[in-house]
Amino acid sequence: MSQPDDDFAINRAHWNDYAEIHSTNRPEIYDLDRLRAGGDTLTPIEAAELGDVAGLSLLHLQCHLGLDCITFARRGARVTGLDFSPRAIETARQLAVDTNLPVTFVEGNVYDTRQLVAGTFDLVFASWGVFCWIPDVGRWIATAASMLNPGGRLYVIDSHPMMGMLEEETGPTGAPHMVVFQNWRTPIDQPIEYDAPLSYSGDPTIVANAASREWVHPMSDFVMAVRDAGLDLTFLHEHEQIPWQQFPSMVVDPATGLWQFGPGRHRVPLAFSLMATARS
Ligand SMILES: C[S@@+](CC[C@H](N)C(=O)[O-])C[C@H]1O[C@@H](n2cnc3c(N)ncnc32)[C@H](O)[C@@H]1O
Repeated sequence: MSQPDDDFAINRAHWNDYAEIHSTNRPEIYDLDRLRAGGDTLTPIEAAELGDVAGLSLLHLQCHLGLDCITFARRGARVTGLDFSPRAIETARQLAVDTNLPVTFVEGNVYDTRQLVAGTFDLVFASWGVFCWIPDVGRWIATAASMLNPGGRLYVIDSHPMMGMLEEETGPTGAPHMVVFQNWRTPIDQPIEYDAPLSYSGDPTIVANAASREWVHPMSDFVMAVRDAGLDLTFLHEHEQIPWQQFPSMVVDPATGLWQFGPGRHRVPLAFSLMATARS
C-alpha cells in the first residue's frame, strides 16, 4: 500500500523532469514561441463552454508551464496559476515576463491551495491531464470549492474515465479495436505504478525520474464530490474529441484541430467537462 506523500513526491520529481523538457519549446504540444507571438492555447471546447472571461479573477490549478494562464490573461482575466513542479513554475513566471502580463504563479500541492493562495475567485479552472495525478477527487473538488466567490464557477475538462480503461489492439485482419486493460476505479492507496522515461511531447530525452503514480476515477466520484462540496452542478458534458492522439488509429478533425475516431469506429466518450457553481 502506498502513502500519499510518497506518491506526490514521486510524481513531483517526474513532472519536474517533464517540465524541463517541455520548457525547451515543444511545438507539437507546448508551443511557447507561438504563445509569445500572441497565440491562444484554449481548445474550441473550453473556449466555447467558458465564454468571455474578461474582468474575472481566475485560478488555474495544475497549470503546468502556464500557457493557458497567459491565454486567460490576454483575454482579460486576472490570473493566478498553481503547480507543484518548481521547474514548471519557473518557466511560467518567465513566460509572464516575456509576454508582459501580470500573472501570479504559486508553487505547491493542489491539496494545499487554500493555505497557499489568498482570497477567492470568480472562476477556478483545470484542464487536460489533471485527475489521473490526484488520489482523491472529493478532496480536490472540496479544495477548489473553497477557492470560489459566492456565485463563482468551477470548470474542469479532462480525459474521460472510460478512455482511461481502454487500449487499442490490431486484430488478425489488421483492423484496430479497443480492449479494456484497466480497472474502472483505483483505490487511493493502490495507485497504478507507471514507468514513463519519455515525455509525451515527442522529445527523445530519457528522464531520470521515470516512475509515476496514477489513479482512474469513475464519473460518479466527480458528481458526488460536487454535491458534497455544496456546489450546484451547472453541466456535465461528454465529448468524442481530445487534444492529443491517445490511440494510433485516431484522426484529426480539421474543424477543431482535436483528435477523434474516424468513420466506422465505435463512438466512445473521450473527454468530459464539468461546470459547478458556488451558491450566493
Ligand atoms: C498534464 S499537466 C496539465 C496540463 C495543463 N492543462 C496545461 O495547461 O499545460 C499536469 C500538471 O499537473 C501538475 N500536478 C500533478 N499533480 C499535482 C499536485 N498534486 N499538485 C499540484 N500540481 C500537480 C504537474 O506538475 C503538471 O504540471
